[in-house]
Amino acid sequence: MRTPLMAGNWKMNKTASEAIQFFDSLVEEVGNPVDREVLICPPFTALYPLGRMIRKSNAPVRLGAQNLYPAEGGAYTGEISPAMLRDAGCTYVIVGHSERRQYFRESNAFINRKIRTALDNQLCPIICVGESLDQREAGQAKAVVTAQGRACLDGFSGQDVANLVIAYEPLWAIGTGRTATPADAQSMHAAIRALLAELHGRDVANAVRILYGGSVKPANVDTLMSQPDIDGALVGGASLKVDSFARIVKFQAGG
Ligand code: PGA
Repeated sequence: MRTPLMAGNWKMNKTASEAIQFFDSLVEEVGNPVDREVLICPPFTALYPLGRMIRKSNAPVRLGAQNLYPAEGGAYTGEISPAMLRDAGCTYVIVGHSERRQYFRESNAFINRKIRTALDNQLCPIICVGESLDQREAGQAKAVVTAQGRACLDGFSGQDVANLVIAYEPLWAIGTGRTATPADAQSMHAAIRALLAELHGRDVANAVRILYGGSVKPANVDTLMSQPDIDGALVGGASLKVDSFARIVKFQAGG
């Protein structure tokens, strides 16, 4: 049984004080859900204060970073190390988000190194994959996404892979208000799970949580979460408001 993971990716939004305010209201709204995990990934500056709040109040919310550098430390001006993220209270880290692939030219090989670094430091990586609109229209969505998955996961053992999370985020759905249909998303998630089974067997494939990301909102979360291979959501815009993120966290999957 895979525990659903409902994750908010704030991107470059909210100061530390705004994050603290948000956090208090979020905890009030979501209560203590036992059958799902709630995760927020704020900017670096908000990690430490939120980590302290979570530790103090034992709040059922996990903390993740939006990026890390694949080295233990040293002369990498402007970057952040896995030990710094752990110390701030993170247990998750997003790697290979399409915005980083696009604006910062991150390659699958570089993302692969980040995944290794995250796993070596007890940070659960959330690895983002997804195709562009041109690629989808050319009928290449599955080929593109499985190639990204193969390259990002190259060299990892079944045990490594069982401990990570994948997020399928079609580029044309991110921040556009356009969501993949539940059936299209399900078919992509099934393709990713088939790749995991080919690489490491059915048990590992069945253990991995595959999140959907791209304009997830209160109005579409229930149907998305009703798909058998959608194990959670990576939410951008709709995670910035307590009401909408709380509603997403409280999704109800039906038949
Ligand atoms: P969105 O972003 O929900 O605003 O589309 C999702 C993401 O980029 O993780």
